[in-house]
Formats: sequence, structure tokens, C-alpha cells
Amino acid sequence: MPSIAVITGGAGDIGRAIAVRLAESHDRVVLVDINEAKANEVAAALNSKSDKTHQKESNDSDKFIPLLCDITDPTQVTKLPRKVLSPDEDSGSDPATVHTLINNAGATWSDSLHQMTPNTWKRETALNLDASYLLFHAFADSLKRTRGSVINIASVNGLAVFGNPAYSAAKAGLIHLTRSIAVEYGKYGIRANAVAPGTVRTAVWEERMRANPKVFEEVTQWYPLKRVVEPADVANAVAFLASRELAGAVSGVCLPVDCGLMAGQGVVAGSFSQCGDY
Ligand SMILES: NC(=O)c1ccc[n+]([C@@H]2O[C@H](COP(=O)([O-])OP(=O)(O)OC[C@H]3O[C@@H](n4cnc5c(N)ncnc54)[C@H](O)[C@@H]3O)[C@@H](O)[C@H]2O)c1
Repeated sequence: MPSIAVITGGAGDIGRAIAVRLAESHDRVVLVDINEAKANEVAAALNSKSDKTHQKESNDSDKFIPLLCDITDPTQVTKLPRKVLSPDEDSGSDPATVHTLINNAGATWSDSLHQMTPNTWKRETALNLDASYLLFHAFADSLKRTRGSVINIASVNGLAVFGNPAYSAAKAGLIHLTRSIAVEYGKYGIRANAVAPGTVRTAVWEERMRANPKVFEEVTQWYPLKRVVEPADVANAVAFLASRELAGAVSGVCLPVDCGLMAGQGVVAGSFSQCGDY
């Protein structure tokens, strides 16, 4: 039976990088996204690249499969497992081949509590936390059968305050959901882990770049490695956590992929130690 990886937000920059990496270890990679046109475009581009690399026969099925779904809608999410197995028919038998679920879709619309409205709070927690529970609930039986793994894309915002309070509260909740899955479903062989990226150079920064063209220079100063994260950095961490061979004993962790941000700040260390070495 072919092994399948399901990636929410698969049409986004990080989702796409994860898809490329997981295609190395899975037979099919499903790109679940609310943006149908973009998901189709990304899947077509990845399929054409993969076909050239692997000299695909014309009757082989595509490796990357786009799938339209608003993951904040419980009704749509409930229908996903059948669609993942039989994308063209909306009917299928056993969705037991899902080995890996990546809860990656996420976004924020409010930078501070001052800007927040009850509606935005609800919208951000629905996408960044509730949807990941819905997806896990939908695929739990499949993951039990494959002794599969869940990887939740959290953020350093879930570990400390960097603005965007509803998004951050949701990401903190997502890290806790990860631990809950690891503890309760470990007995079925399911591993659950989170990745907490720092600033990643993706399309979501375009608006901030327009407002402040030096935004990356500005944020880079806080990163001990003096660079921000690339989508491929996140994808590499996901590939490690998804691998039973490499990370078979790793469950319930949140791995920062943050160029050292959560380790501490040189300026603070210098001030506390009164030492110029930082
Ligand atoms: N970019 C960063 O700096 C950064 C930092 C830390 C964490 N992250 C996290 O990484 C993940 C991916 O971020 P990205 O930068 O690639 O963003 P992106 O905007 O490029 O991709 C997000 C994707 O999610 C999709 N999506 C949004 N709402 C959806 C819904 N309701 N249903 C289905 N799909 C939906 C979008 O259409 C988009 O394709 C997010 O969870 C984000 O919080 C990003």
C-alpha cells in the first residue's frame, strides 16, 4: 500500500518545502489548502519536476496531489480522509495509508492585544489551533493503523512573546496538543512532535517588507546565527521527525528551528554577566 503524507497549507512556502522533502520518503504527498488555484499550481510544478527526475511512465499516478479544503470547517475536514485516498471520486475504501500528518497551515491578522477584536481572536485560534485538532481527529484511525506520526508546525511565538497574541496563544496551545497526542496515542505507536520556527523568509512577510524594507535586517540582529530561517530548514527538521528510522524514539518534543533565538540574547547575557564577550 502506498504511504501518504498529508500537509495542510501545502501551497504555502513552508508547506511546499516540506512536500519536497517528504516526497523522498512517501509515495504520495497531499497538499491540502484553501487556495485551490495555488495548490494546483504548486502540485503541477512539483509533479513536472518529479516526473523529469524519475522518468515517470504515463500511467503512473501523480506524486503530489492538491486538495481543496478549509481546515477550519469541521464538515470539510471530516470528508478529508476519504478524499485523500480517492482524490477524484470522493469515495474510497480504507484510508489506512496515511503515515504522516503535517499541520502546517497558519496565519495571523492581529499584531497586538490593542488591535485585537473578539472576531479576530476566534479566527486566529480556529486556524492555528482548533484546525490541527480537527485534522488529528479525522486521521487518528489511519495513523493508528500505520503507527504513523503527526508534526505540528508551531512557532517561537508559542514559546515566548514576539507579538501577535492570538496566534501565539494558539501556537502555545498547539505545542500542548502535541504533547497530549504523544502521551495518549503513544500506545498505538503514534509519535507527535512540533517544530517551532523563528522568522522564515516566506510570502507572509511581504506586507511587513513593503512597510519596512529593512525588516529582515532588523530582525536578523536578534538571531545568534545572524540569519533568519529558510523554508528548507523547517522541512529538514520535519523530515527528521517524520523518519521512524532517525526519530523513532522522539515523541512529545517541540524542536525550535530558530537560528538560536530561543537560546537567549547576547545583549542580555552581556548585561547580566557584565562581560564584553557577548
Ligand atoms: N513565515 C514565518 O516567519 C513563520 C514563522 C514561524 C512559524 N510559521 C508557521 O509556518 C506555517 C506556514 O507558514 P508560511 O510562512 O509558509 O505561510 P504561507 O502563508 O506561505 O502558507 C500558509 C498556507 O496555509 C493556507 N491556509 C490558510 N488558511 C487555510 C485554511 N483555512 N484551510 C486550508 N489552508 C489554509 C494558505 O492558503 C497558504 O497556502 C504556519 O503555521 C506559520 O504559522 C511561519
